[in-house]
Amino acid sequence: MPESMPETSPRGLTRLAFGGDYNPEQWPESVWQEDVRLMREAGVTMVSVGIFSWALLEPSPGVYDFGWMDRLLDLLHEHGIRVDLGTPTVCPPVWFYRAHPDALPVTADGVRHEFGSRAAICHSNADYRTAAASITTKLAERYGDHPALAMWHVHNEYGVPVSACYCDSCAAHFRRWLAAAYGTVDALNEAWGTAFWGQRYAAFEDINPPRTTPTAVNPAQALDYKRFADATMRENFVMERDILHRVSPGVPVTTNFMTALSQCDSVDYWAWGREVDLVTNDHYLITDGRRTHVNLAMAADLTRSVAGGAPWILLEHSTSGVNWQPRNPAKAPGQMARNSLGHVARGSEGAMFFQWRQSRRGAEKFHSAMLPHGGTDTRVWREVVQLGASLDSLSTVRGTRTRADVAMLWDWHSWWAQNLDWRPNADHDPRERADSFYEALYDRHLTVDFAHPEADLSAYPLVVVPALYLMTEAAGRNLRRYVENGGTLVVSYFSGIVDEHDAVHEGAYPGPLRDVLGLTVEEFSPLLQDQLVRITGPDGSELSGDVWTEFVVPRGAETVWTYADGLTAGHPAVTRHRLGEGTAWYVSTRLGADGLDALLGWAVEDAQVTPRADLPRDVEVVLRAGESGSFLFAINHTASDAKVPLETPGTELLTGERAAGRLEVPAGAVRVVRLDG
Ligand code: GLA
Ligand code: ZN
Repeated sequence: MPESMPETSPRGLTRLAFGGDYNPEQWPESVWQEDVRLMREAGVTMVSVGIFSWALLEPSPGVYDFGWMDRLLDLLHEHGIRVDLGTPTVCPPVWFYRAHPDALPVTADGVRHEFGSRAAICHSNADYRTAAASITTKLAERYGDHPALAMWHVHNEYGVPVSACYCDSCAAHFRRWLAAAYGTVDALNEAWGTAFWGQRYAAFEDINPPRTTPTAVNPAQALDYKRFADATMRENFVMERDILHRVSPGVPVTTNFMTALSQCDSVDYWAWGREVDLVTNDHYLITDGRRTHVNLAMAADLTRSVAGGAPWILLEHSTSGVNWQPRNPAKAPGQMARNSLGHVARGSEGAMFFQWRQSRRGAEKFHSAMLPHGGTDTRVWREVVQLGASLDSLSTVRGTRTRADVAMLWDWHSWWAQNLDWRPNADHDPRERADSFYEALYDRHLTVDFAHPEADLSAYPLVVVPALYLMTEAAGRNLRRYVENGGTLVVSYFSGIVDEHDAVHEGAYPGPLRDVLGLTVEEFSPLLQDQLVRITGPDGSELSGDVWTEFVVPRGAETVWTYADGLTAGHPAVTRHRLGEGTAWYVSTRLGADGLDALLGWAVEDAQVTPRADLPRDVEVVLRAGESGSFLFAINHTASDAKVPLETPGTELLTGERAAGRLEVPAGAVRVVRLDG
């Protein structure tokens, strides 16, 4: 048990966090002097060090070389730069693997990974756990009360690039985990539905991870393996965290999340959010042709939500391009500042980067950095210095909280379940629905909190459920209570279908939502690729859907839009159900942007969500408020100057100018007004 309550914000950091991953071991020590001088020039307040340094700190088993780290922390401290100190457990040294080759993870196909990259770890491996505990203890003993230490950064991005290992140690660990979860193998047989395809187990000893099978593996087994892999990584995090709390009391412990990255769907951040002292997140723009600032806003909102609304820190993003996508565009002038301040608007207590100085060698040398290969006579450097000054002028936003207008339900377990094999339509992607509903809310200038399906929703006038295939009975009761008490709910198709074991809820679809929505779904009728259906609205207007349709039977709900063609012609496409004091909407096809906007237009009316004053598309307005005041962030993502109506006058913090009535936000610029009063 910790002797004192851990802090929830970086120790000794009195400004917003600004800096990056600092890997000085890649450079001769003579360069370090230049580093700290330039950090000061840029206004760097904190750096993350030591994340990948195990092989240097412990060059052979039990032999330590802390000299360079001592000099580094002292140097940073002398220059007033706070340190986010990594435990290097994401990268065990080669001597460790040569002694314990079975700590290398194994794929579902039985291929064991080799040393020579990073993050090759079987989290069930007892030798790994012992070695990780040992280096963590050594570090905590040595630096636990170092004056530069602001917080501990455990490991790095649990869950990527290896989300699960399928080796024999994991198999044994999985069996123990299952025995604890189910008690008896009969209970497991029931939950997994092993009567199907003759999979009945006589003993836990017979069960293996869902390794490669001839065809679809048991879905409940696969789903439990996701849970197991997540829980196993968390066990290792908690082990390190508890050592740090014990040896280095009072210093907050974090591990960097990647909340919204669809490649990182293997971690249940609701559960992790409860284990860290302070939520931190990494975010990189995915350049897939969609509006990257919308994805960024969603990631930031989700991060704030897993932090329970509390301030969090953006621990990594990029000054310009990354190097791990097929095509890695540079950021446009001003984009780095918009990105950084976009995260701050949504609750981040600063903006940090991967990495400080761009590497000359290794796999990430083409990844942008704060100090690029080109040095200080570069646009990136000038923008970095500018951003440091901007963040400095925003110090007073620390501790305030972002105000959300509406909530969206989000559950990693449902996402895992929905992505298993053999679903009615491979073109249905639950993440796409979440992204699209989010985008529609963003375009209405509404700020979104994410919520677990069983969380208290009473604070929100509107709750959106994009595609929540897996839903417990408890979540169904929660939504019913929410609507009965006056909430407005919008539910998209393929929600409420299975329980926590991927078993279809008893009775007609959508089990726990039938009463709330006032309908049943008799049959899914997925569409072929590129097939469209028309739907007609009450005023005769027409919209279209694709991917999915359903045979919906209203049982209390009124039909608002109707399928005009396709197999489901004449059946309801969108329904509305009054229940208690509230309203529940249901949409049974995949609406495009115009359809979602129309649907949300009706729902916000029911919910009486006050529409934001006239704002142009892609001009983002977000409010942070708290003891130190109310701060209106306006981010202009467009190429035209914009005007944002201001109900309360105030002082613009980046320019120092007064603003009243209307706030001018030049093309591509960010403005932050501290409202009077
Ligand atoms: C992740 C890692 C960093 C680095 C960056 C590059 O966020 O944590 O070490 O690899 O990606 O984008
Ligand atoms: Zn393993």
